[in-house]
Amino acid sequence: MLKLIIASLLMRMSVNLVQAQFSQQARDSINKLSYNDHQQMLGQLGITSLRPGPSGNPQSPDAANTDETKVQPYFLPDPLVFNSGHRVKTPQEWKQRRTEIREIFDREIYGRVPENIPAVNWRVISEKDTLDGDIPVTIKKLEGVVDNSSYPEVEVVMQLTVGTPVDARKSVPVILEFGFDWGGRFSRQGNSEELTWKQQLLQKGWGYAILVPWTIQADNGAGLRQGIIGLANKGENRKPDDWGALRAWAWGASKAIDYFETDPEVDVARIGIEGMSRYGKAALVAMAYEPRIAIGFIGSSGAGGAKILHRVFGEQVENLASSAEYHWFAGNFIKYAGPLTQEDLPVDAHHLVAICAPRPVFISSGSAAVEGQWVDAKGMFLGGAMAGPVYELLGKQSMRTMHFPQQETLVDGDVAFRQHEGGHTNTPNWPHFIKFAERYLER
Ligand code: GCU
Repeated sequence: MLKLIIASLLMRMSVNLVQAQFSQQARDSINKLSYNDHQQMLGQLGITSLRPGPSGNPQSPDAANTDETKVQPYFLPDPLVFNSGHRVKTPQEWKQRRTEIREIFDREIYGRVPENIPAVNWRVISEKDTLDGDIPVTIKKLEGVVDNSSYPEVEVVMQLTVGTPVDARKSVPVILEFGFDWGGRFSRQGNSEELTWKQQLLQKGWGYAILVPWTIQADNGAGLRQGIIGLANKGENRKPDDWGALRAWAWGASKAIDYFETDPEVDVARIGIEGMSRYGKAALVAMAYEPRIAIGFIGSSGAGGAKILHRVFGEQVENLASSAEYHWFAGNFIKYAGPLTQEDLPVDAHHLVAICAPRPVFISSGSAAVEGQWVDAKGMFLGGAMAGPVYELLGKQSMRTMHFPQQETLVDGDVAFRQHEGGHTNTPNWPHFIKFAERYLER
């Protein structure tokens, strides 16, 4: 238990440390600029008022619903029905339907990646053989410099770390995490349960990589005219169907994979992606759009990730559309907290999981008692379960149940779900994900 609390604290610390980089004054001005950008997007959309989201504080009078008996019935759009109303019957037809679904996500939810993004030049800035705990590892630090000759006011330099076993004689599977590279500072040793996620991967003979999201695109609305979104727009405001930060972070993962293709230590046919919370959302979006990602570990992704948004429990569309979170999405998504509601969404999380099929996806959550209910564990389970028919159409295994499992019970299939005993972290599920991944990544 103590271990889990520490892991959870570390996760929170990482978020807090990132925030602590900014003084209160800087945070106030980020919030103000985000508010202004949100307002200008509302103006473009012709929206004059939005519904406020419920509170994440369970004590608050307007707390988000956490009572299962208060979830009203909702009706989900079917991934296997074309926009025309025709049913998808074959894997061949699914390919066309998948294109339709991607188009809806592009236009309404995550936004479109512009066509003319400048090239990225990856360079290794350091490389050393060292020890992580007692495991020999080769660590490369890289920078992905985006050509900004079209708009020199904005510079984008992505940071990537790659760690591979020193004694690997051939290219190895690599799990790419959206996160921050803490180096060895928080590494633990001892029995295998206590190994860090990096050590667990290295011990298996696999590698890890860490891509720092905010070096691609800032995690706020204030930064939307900078980062890769701002560079592609030459410093102008977004249009309503332009990409948001999640899609931009996912783009960064694709660029990291471009680099992996040139690295003989990495087996590009065996790349996984992992992320937690907002980066869990980003990991799922990356997998949905990037076919070179072979497997996904999607942690506590909640609303905007694997959670069914039609379900009124925990975080809601209204929260995502607020000036604190809208930058993750296309401007168009804000409509669903104004003139439209979550019931009008033409796609939901199960569509997002479905467009990852047939590739394996492991959906992870913490315990409701420790993590809280904001992420809506059951909603994330349903995001995977409702994608089942698509997996089956493609000859893969669904979860084969709609029954929410007991904590610490793996619902296994090519789309899988496990709620661990800890809080807002992926740590307790790492050994379970690795075991799941062995089936696919071990040769
Ligand atoms: C907030 C937000 C979530 C997000 C989380 C995080 O709680 O509402 O959607 O996942 O932050 O990234 O930590």
